[in-house]
Amino acid sequence: MDGKKKIVVLVSGGGTNLQALIDAEKRGEIHGGQITCVISSKEGAFALERAAKAGIPSVVLPRKDYPDSKTYSKAILDELDRQGADLVVLAGFMTILDECVTKAYTNRIINVHPALIPSFCGEGFYGLRVHEKALEYGVKVSGATIHFVNEKADAGPIILQGTVAVENDDTPEVLQRRIMENVEWKLLPKAVSLFCEDRITVRDGRAYVDLK
Ligand code: GAR
Repeated sequence: MDGKKKIVVLVSGGGTNLQALIDAEKRGEIHGGQITCVISSKEGAFALERAAKAGIPSVVLPRKDYPDSKTYSKAILDELDRQGADLVVLAGFMTILDECVTKAYTNRIINVHPALIPSFCGEGFYGLRVHEKALEYGVKVSGATIHFVNEKADAGPIILQGTVAVENDDTPEVLQRRIMENVEWKLLPKAVSLFCEDRITVRDGRAYVDLK
């Protein structure tokens, strides 16, 4: 593996963020890391096709096959350990992981959230719902946050954030697409590369990025 960090990407749906990571790796922009496995919480997720096309092995662990978050998280933890993951990336992973995973992988799990944390985040805020709520509130800027995952939903140390303007006639779908294109697909690969180069430090619950 030439000393590269093993990146395991967790997905649940379309996988455009996974695609952004795959494309960045192909362009040589993930310094010191390699995507070695994709784990999906849903059978038939389009993200699995993206992984197959890129020649990346995948594992399906359907959330619906487990009675609760605790048993599901244990299955995820076992798989991450089996894969020897150095970094876990939640790229549109729609299941909250229990502390058995977050504690075992402290500051080694990166999530992309489609809003400017601490706004429009926490339990129940995922996918299009986040953009519906932002539009309902009438905010004039929104964006995305790349952060480490801890025991509280969307509350771990923030690594990178980026913004976009909200336009008067935006629909949730239009706003989602603008945030993905302008922020998520750029900042997620950037944060992953920074991690793999050991350029992120966490002190007192805050992440410090060495941007050089
Ligand atoms: C992305 O917008 C991601 O930020 C969001 O779901 C979408 C997944 O798209 N994630 C969350 O809401 C997690 N709380 P993708 O499957 O095409 O990457």
